[in-house]
Amino acid sequence: MSNNNPLKIRQVHHVELYVGNAKQADYFYRNAFGFERVAYTGLETGNREQCSYGLQQGTFKLLLTTPYTSLDKASAHIFQHGDGVRDVALEVDDADFAFEESLRRGATAAVAPYSIKTERGEARRAAVKVYGDTIHSFFSKPNYDGPFFPEFVESRAPGRNAGLLRLDHFVANVEFGKMQHWEDWYRRVFGFDRFMTFDDKDISTDFTALNSVVMANHSRSIKFPINEPAPGKRKSQIEEYTEFYQSPGVQHIALLTTDIIATIRQLRANGVDFLDVPDTYYEALNARVGLIDEDLETLRGLRILVDRDDEGYLLQLFTKPVEDRPTLFYEIIQRKGCQGFGKGNFKALFEAIEREQAGRGNLV
Ligand code: FE2
Repeated sequence: MSNNNPLKIRQVHHVELYVGNAKQADYFYRNAFGFERVAYTGLETGNREQCSYGLQQGTFKLLLTTPYTSLDKASAHIFQHGDGVRDVALEVDDADFAFEESLRRGATAAVAPYSIKTERGEARRAAVKVYGDTIHSFFSKPNYDGPFFPEFVESRAPGRNAGLLRLDHFVANVEFGKMQHWEDWYRRVFGFDRFMTFDDKDISTDFTALNSVVMANHSRSIKFPINEPAPGKRKSQIEEYTEFYQSPGVQHIALLTTDIIATIRQLRANGVDFLDVPDTYYEALNARVGLIDEDLETLRGLRILVDRDDEGYLLQLFTKPVEDRPTLFYEIIQRKGCQGFGKGNFKALFEAIEREQAGRGNLV
């Protein structure tokens, strides 16, 4: 097992966003995306540097963090990138071991191991740097079983639950020519291997193209696709992202549901904005994917996309960016046997993204 999992990673523990106003982001993620708040740390709990709201839907945990002053390191992150993903945090057997072993394998340190210790218990944390200003924290909680971490207090506030169950994958956008570097990094440091790959022949429109590789752990429970732009006639969506995020970073987070029709109905009722595809997409759908359980008219009405491979099919839909900069967005996905990423939808999807990009004056 150690060869397959050299850092003894158990799972993605949470994704942390640095945001300009965590109080308002908490409201948005509860009432639009259906998360529930479960934990909080801030001035009221003795934290005088940052406040964080811990949200959860299904098993997926989201941490929304805002610094109290411009001196806090999170302020520089928000100044440069806007709201975005700072940390894809991993629960490991032993944070100290994962940190030392990752450095031995070539990772760069971001945070040396330290204890988070309160009367509620103890956790260990360390972190390494990856693309842009993104980090992977390693957490182990030898002596804590409350919400998030020992500096948090329980803080319950409901959301308009949309039936999202867990993280399916999250995707990084990196600079032109850097995909191979990060593929090698995840192989060498995390012991991941290549689960799937797409090139500009799979992912191109008349104007733009990109390459993508999906890195995954041995059990396939953690999947990290990495995108880079490929040469095209116009600026690709990856370049638009890196221009506005002002560095590489996390492009989208895909969350799994087992009833995408109910989930999308709820998210739309909650006011979430999704990418639209033209009606011609649905005219060609039957011929492309064959027999499926869902009613085609219902899918058309909700603008849900479908793709099939040898093992089954998947249904998916993408939100528009959730901040004013065209950066982070979300994917909602349901899998019925298919372990792919919707290759058959790439063209329709990227054309939809390009229409949005053109509307922003960025398809140049
Ligand atoms: Fe995706």
